[in-house]
Amino acid sequence: MAILVEGVAKRYISRGREVEALAPVTMTIEDGAFVAFLGPSGCGKSTLLNIIAGLLPASAGRVVHDGAVVSGPNRRVGYMTQVDSLLPWRTAEANVGLGLELQGVPKDRAAARIDEMLRLVKLEGFRRHFPAELSGGMRKRVALAQVLAYDPGTLLMDEPFGALDAQLKLVMQHELLRIWENTGKTVIFVTHDIAEAVALADRVVVFSARPGRVSAVHEIDLPRPRDVFRVRFQPRFQELCETLWAALEPDMLRQEDAA
Ligand SMILES: Nc1ncnc2c1ncn2[C@@H]1O[C@H](COP(=O)(O)OP(=O)(O)OP(=O)(O)O)[C@@H](O)[C@H]1O
Ligand SMILES: [Mg+2]
Repeated sequence: MAILVEGVAKRYISRGREVEALAPVTMTIEDGAFVAFLGPSGCGKSTLLNIIAGLLPASAGRVVHDGAVVSGPNRRVGYMTQVDSLLPWRTAEANVGLGLELQGVPKDRAAARIDEMLRLVKLEGFRRHFPAELSGGMRKRVALAQVLAYDPGTLLMDEPFGALDAQLKLVMQHELLRIWENTGKTVIFVTHDIAEAVALADRVVVFSARPGRVSAVHEIDLPRPRDVFRVRFQPRFQELCETLWAALEPDMLRQEDAA
């Protein structure tokens, strides 16, 4: 089973003008794959994730997930959106349990699952803290535990570690790879960061500037399991980063010219 993106395009109407956000995009994401989306700001990465999540209708084309056409909220995915979506009035554990509560999972089963997830992201000691009492990295961990709690087969992650400092970003990448290796989930991971895409993914899909289209697809042939702390010192890692930079450079520089 897989996610098929078939000629998906998106136009927005904004202030009476039509904005072509995404040109027709076609790709297949195999079950269990780790795919990164890389592209300049505004090229439609979040738009495409929203369409795959079934939260936004496409203007053309369709998404087929595990054989079913996505036509409303896609229950096969867990979605970590670009903005932190933790509820400030709920503790860490109550945030982790939100999806389970909405699904009507019985309290005792939900409690066991919440414990398991807090252990997985190493936050057992912070279960009764509110988001404002947690560090940025801890909040990201709570958000990750929240989407993992209802055990979706696919994780959509939109620049989940973008705002973190360099070291913490590595720690979170390490934890995500560990979880991915242990659970066999499919991951679609949006990032601006070439090194992050190469360190994590099996395949990197490069998007051009708006309207976004797939400008290159690169398979990342670094061996698994990967050590995110050390993989970047390998010559092959540097080579792949250079190749991806060459694919991105024209759009990145064009964007700078326009600013
Ligand atoms: N609801 C909307 N109405 C009108 N235009 C929109 C809407 N959402 C996004 N856009 C436009 O569509 C384009 C793609 O936006 P999108 O958020 O998908 O980009 P992105 O690749 O995720 O960017 P970033 O890397 O900055 O998050 C942008 O030009 C944006 O201004
Ligand atoms: Mg975005």
